[in-house]
Amino acid sequence: YAVDPTGSLMVLDILLKIKNEIDPTLTLRRSCREGVCGSCAMNIDGENTLACTKGLDELPRGDVSIYPLPHMPVVKDLVSDLTHFYAQYTSIKPWLQTQSVPGTRERLQSPEDRKKLDGLYECILCACCSTACPSYWWNPDRFLGPAILLQAKRWIVDSRDEATGERLDDLNDPFKLYRCHTIMNCTNTCPKGLNPAKAISEIKQLLLKRTV
Ligand code: SF4
Ligand code: FES
Repeated sequence: YAVDPTGSLMVLDILLKIKNEIDPTLTLRRSCREGVCGSCAMNIDGENTLACTKGLDELPRGDVSIYPLPHMPVVKDLVSDLTHFYAQYTSIKPWLQTQSVPGTRERLQSPEDRKKLDGLYECILCACCSTACPSYWWNPDRFLGPAILLQAKRWIVDSRDEATGERLDDLNDPFKLYRCHTIMNCTNTCPKGLNPAKAISEIKQLLLKRTV
């Protein structure tokens, strides 16, 4: 499409301009326009990122190629099918698991324990990292991929969770976790500046610690 970028700041503005003024059939997902919902993730000029936070000033002048997230089934145009990705997310039981009897108020955390969630809770599940990972491209059925493993770490380190052992048991698998070969595409592409490769490496260290 040939578009006049005047008045547009972000790639999402351009895509909506195309949809509104040139081709109403162009299909994409977006909701928040603030880098919070993760729904506008796509491959822009060779990089997985969010269309709503990718500035036009970050792109070369002239033609820019925009594709759906790589190596995912495509529903239409820029909309990837994330059904499998969300099923993998469900598989790590992304909720607080407890056996102890609840007290009369919230389960509290010390400021130090709360700090352990920093760098993890901010993940918006956009899937930019997992779909940038060659290991995930080749084994999406068995490797959980960087996004889901970062989320798994978020629950493993939560001081209020009482299923840490079971969570680690579940990840102790040659494919689910150990297909990560520290290629680092995940960390390099995360539009929220998170470090899934570090989270994965820390899960591996926790598993190793249990054996010694
Ligand atoms: Fe997206 Fe970053 Fe979360 Fe991966 S770690 S899903 S790239 S926010
Ligand atoms: Fe929500 Fe882009 S529209 S992250």
